[in-house]
Amino acid sequence: MEFSELIRARHSVRYFDEKKPVPEETLRAIVQDASRAPSCMNAQEWRVWVATGEVLERIRRRYAESFAGNAKADPGFGTVPIRLWSEGAQRRIAAFQKSRADAGLAEVKLASQSQLFHAPAVAYLTVPKVHAECTAFDIGGLEVMMMLAAADRGVGSVPAYNLVKFPDILREELGIPETEVFAVGIAFGYEVDCPLNRFRSTRMPPDDFAVFRK
Ligand SMILES: Cc1cc2nc3c(=O)[nH]c(=O)nc-3n(C[C@H](O)[C@H](O)[C@H](O)COP(=O)(O)O)c2cc1C
Repeated sequence: MEFSELIRARHSVRYFDEKKPVPEETLRAIVQDASRAPSCMNAQEWRVWVATGEVLERIRRRYAESFAGNAKADPGFGTVPIRLWSEGAQRRIAAFQKSRADAGLAEVKLASQSQLFHAPAVAYLTVPKVHAECTAFDIGGLEVMMMLAAADRGVGSVPAYNLVKFPDILREELGIPETEVFAVGIAFGYEVDCPLNRFRSTRMPPDDFAVFRK
């Protein structure tokens, strides 16, 4: 696939085939490709914790309980209440959520999310707590590279804050030290053909956010 086609083909997959694991060599190849992401002064201050198999099943069970019990979320770094975002961003978020609700997918999405989207693999991306903010660009680059490297191999993905909402569970199950803070989780797997996965987000036109001058 041409690279520009690949960029357009990638989309958030929110319901994976739980019976179809992603081979470990594919997950390793995705991480290896993504390691070519640029980082500030090439510091590569990122860690990737990949959970599959029994450890992921334990996390899934504990997350489902936390979602069901409305457990208090730990926001991690960089989360700011949406009411403080720009008017434009709030409008786009509302439109995005309305379009999903109008398609009758709001509840289905929440149900799948509480099961970690039924993913057979989840990668948790962390950076050191002491300088989390200045590594945010780097970890974002790594995140996107991982999803594109996955798409190139026919593997679907969704980046999700909800995957890192309960860090204590992840620290316990994966042995992640307190010195690391969670940026985002990425669920990986093979896409199930269903309305939730057929839903597509839109984008504002480039002229609405980019300025070209000569
Ligand atoms: C940092 C970040 C956090 C996200 N958190 C969630 C989440 O918790 N749940 C979810 O379903 N999608 C989540 N998403 C996916 C976005 O909703 C999605 O990328 C956006 O709507 C654009 O759609 P697309 O990925 O299909 O192009 C997140 C994306 C990013 C980059």
